[in-house]
Amino acid sequence: MQDISLQVILRAVFGLKEGERYQQIKQVLIEMLDTFNSPLSAVLLFFKSLQRDLGPWSPWGRFIRRRQQLDKLIYQEINERRHQSESQGEDILSLLLSARDENGAAMTDMELRDELMTMLFAGHETTAIALAWALYWIHYLPEVREKLLKELKSIDVANADPTVITQLPYLNAVCSETLRIYPVTFFSLPRILKEPMQFMGYDLPKGMMLSVSIYLTHHRPDVYPEPEQFKPERFLERQFSPYEFLPFGGGNRRCIGAAFALFEIKLILANILSHYSLDLMDKAPLKPVRRGIVFAPNGGVHLMVKNKYGTGK
Ligand code: HEM
Repeated sequence: MQDISLQVILRAVFGLKEGERYQQIKQVLIEMLDTFNSPLSAVLLFFKSLQRDLGPWSPWGRFIRRRQQLDKLIYQEINERRHQSESQGEDILSLLLSARDENGAAMTDMELRDELMTMLFAGHETTAIALAWALYWIHYLPEVREKLLKELKSIDVANADPTVITQLPYLNAVCSETLRIYPVTFFSLPRILKEPMQFMGYDLPKGMMLSVSIYLTHHRPDVYPEPEQFKPERFLERQFSPYEFLPFGGGNRRCIGAAFALFEIKLILANILSHYSLDLMDKAPLKPVRRGIVFAPNGGVHLMVKNKYGTGK
């Protein structure tokens, strides 16, 4: 799933789908994310005082060197694209290169690099984890898989307009329930109070850092009865407000990739399920563990291909 989501984001952001630079960016990105896989090294992300370069073998030193490698590759790509005369298609880098501010100025290389880096990081592992969880639940609960296959059989997935797939109600409910039960990020990104605030009887001082617990909100039994149970039907029976269902955070800093991610997840799931019959190799319940700032299935989701129908797309 990580490989698929990386291919998708590199194509959307850079328009890259093959070539040496594509392979190099892919490799360095994976290595950088792996730096924070263990809970111990994830601590580095939260404490500035620990972010010290103690040589290429220390976790932060390794991270810095990989970041330099990635910067080099990204700047090379920006530089080449700046010097290509014609506009290069519909990828995000092309759009950013042609953007002008109110004074007619283009974005600097550093601004472009920051935007691209943010999207590469925010938009790849998150989606891969959501896909892995969805595949887990679909194969852990046979009735969910049956209902989903029935819905997918009602359309011709291989030739359908993508929007037909993304509007399938049960597929949408399965994706929502996947993001409800174990949200990829348990917390929203932090906010810092600019002014003192009173909140439910608490006096919160200026400068305090606040973060919404997405996980706890999604597990409130008054909103989601039997919150530990995976039940896509709840999303067919009622609509949840942005204060009840917030896998992509909320407010004006809500995830900018939410629509993109859901579109991608639905198309990938529909294609996998309609072309392959899969089986979970381990039927034991799977719990989330921390990977950097996200939460992923412990040890990954191991599936076996039982059958392949038609040609995969
Ligand atoms: C299932 C996949 C994804 C999940 C669960 C997810 C979740 C989130 C969450 C919870 C936040 C914090 C929002 C807040 O604090 O209110 C966030 C921010 C963000 N996400 Fe996503 N995300 C996903 C996919 C993506 C994709 C595909 C992209 C890019 C194409 C992306 C780009 C971003 C960016 C740039 C931010 C920061 C927004 C800001 O600070 O203004 N995300 N995401």
